[in-house]
Amino acid sequence: MPESFDDVARALHEDGVRHDAVQPDRRARRRNLGPDAAALLSVVCQAMGARWVVEVGTSNGYSTLWLARAVHDQRGTVLSVDVDGEAQRMAAATLDRVGLRDQVQFRCADGGAVLRGLPDASQDVVLLDAERSLYPRWWPDPVRVLRAGGLLAVDNVLSHPAEVAEVRGRIEADPHLESTVAPTAAGLLLAVRRAPAS
Ligand SMILES: C[S@@+](CC[C@H](N)C(=O)[O-])C[C@H]1O[C@@H](n2cnc3c(N)ncnc32)[C@H](O)[C@@H]1O
Repeated sequence: MPESFDDVARALHEDGVRHDAVQPDRRARRRNLGPDAAALLSVVCQAMGARWVVEVGTSNGYSTLWLARAVHDQRGTVLSVDVDGEAQRMAAATLDRVGLRDQVQFRCADGGAVLRGLPDASQDVVLLDAERSLYPRWWPDPVRVLRAGGLLAVDNVLSHPAEVAEVRGRIEADPHLESTVAPTAAGLLLAVRRAPAS
């Protein structure tokens, strides 16, 4: 019998906050999405009927949990990418507990390399929540892989504005994208890929 999604998600986030508070190495922290951003992303994915979602930055699977639930009714798949295989094993175990393991494929690899290997216009949603300084090197793949009407989400645009300034500038200057920043605690940039003009 699967456990309650809300209970597991809440406990996972609280565990991440406790873990991060005593972890001096920033890269070893969980750095989960805020619950506000996770819930917002989940609602938008469901409203879009998203089936193909790629997230870069699994960590312990907090965002993965929300995305997996969001694609569940569409029998969709979340491709969750991280360079930390141990964290992905924890994420897989958590997904099992809530009955959402089948919605997720994990890839232990560099996010840029995985995005580069995805076909054009193949994804409904791309979430970037990894090492922010790497994002510019990944361009234009996060946009290239989105279908028309697809969504690009980038976390931390308000909490770490300098680190995402370059990609935010690219997104805002891209005529194929229309974007806004949701005022979640960390700031979640949401950009939709426009359909080509007919
Ligand atoms: C902010 S955390 C992800 C948090 C997660 N999205 C959540 O809400 O629970 C960033 C993650 O990015 C991963 N990461 C760092 N560099 C990466 C890269 N080049 N490719 C893929 N993942 C990377 C880290 O190992 C870390 O787990």
